[in-house]
Amino acid sequence: MEQKIKNIEAEAVEQMKAAGDLRELDSIRVKYLGKKGALTEILRGMKDVSPEDRPVIGKLVNEAKETIGKALDSATERLRKKEQEAKLAAEHIDITLPGRHPALGKKHPLTQTRNEIISIFRGMGFQVANGPEIEIDYYNFDALNMPEHHPARDDRDSMYITDGVLLRTETSAVQIRVMEKQKPPVRVIVPGKVYRRDADITHTPMFHQVEGLMVDKHIRFSDLKGVLVSFIHQMFGKNMKYRFSPDFFPFTEPSAQVCIGCKVCNASGCSTCSGTGWLEILGSGSVDPEVFKAVNYDPEEVTGFAFGMGIERITMLKYGIDDIRLLFENDLRFLQQF
Ligand code: DAH
Repeated sequence: MEQKIKNIEAEAVEQMKAAGDLRELDSIRVKYLGKKGALTEILRGMKDVSPEDRPVIGKLVNEAKETIGKALDSATERLRKKEQEAKLAAEHIDITLPGRHPALGKKHPLTQTRNEIISIFRGMGFQVANGPEIEIDYYNFDALNMPEHHPARDDRDSMYITDGVLLRTETSAVQIRVMEKQKPPVRVIVPGKVYRRDADITHTPMFHQVEGLMVDKHIRFSDLKGVLVSFIHQMFGKNMKYRFSPDFFPFTEPSAQVCIGCKVCNASGCSTCSGTGWLEILGSGSVDPEVFKAVNYDPEEVTGFAFGMGIERITMLKYGIDDIRLLFENDLRFLQQF
């Protein structure tokens, strides 16, 4: 019996020392110390041991338990350490490897231009306003003082959804919506999509405009000029030449067309500017009293100015793009240049 206990003890200790991982160690523990383990088995057999031998055997079993327990503890520690080291080795990061660059996207040139325009006018105190792209002809034409026979109303020029409902042809429609809701002073810009039946190298059926409107007491034409010249300088540089010339729009009186000097020929005349030296960038003018009447503003009390420009056109002039369709083909070789 004594020898048996010694053997179990030696065997258990040896196996624990040899255990390769914690799972194996645990099964060894169960094998010797578990409920059905070798040592427990011996304790169970104590009833067959003579009473005088019992204390001796009991002591031996307890000693064996203790020895095996110690072997278990040190094996556990050894194997934990081993696992930890293996884990660290597996997760080792080579910090000398060069990083991988994620491919970066960027904003479309039209978005860049739109944001630039917005930020310039924000700097002059304008707020951004919006309106619907599907518009009724009251806002798109009537309230803007466009007579019933105006050619832009024709369905060969504008895209109607049903009678009197169309895709807006100009962001000017939002002027009316803003003034209906808000008392003066008003200082807004309206970036947005507009739609016309037009398609060639300088026109697409959908394009973007930015409308501007300022209304208050004592707003004069010189305020319009000051704001727009500041815009030109910020957008195209301090040395950019500009020209205001008379024009006509139903919703402004007087109206002015604004041109900048042709970049290609430095305003001396070439094919890009049809020999004039000038390229038109926007339409503008003092708000027509008829427009104020439509929104219940008193034209005797307030005055204002408005302007409208095409974002595609400004982008093309700024970067020397000669075909508007390039802006919509989404060819990366083109887009990556901006
Ligand atoms: N709506 C005009 C267009 O689409 C642009 C324009 C001209 C807007 C004069 C204005 C303005 O507000 O005063 O061609």
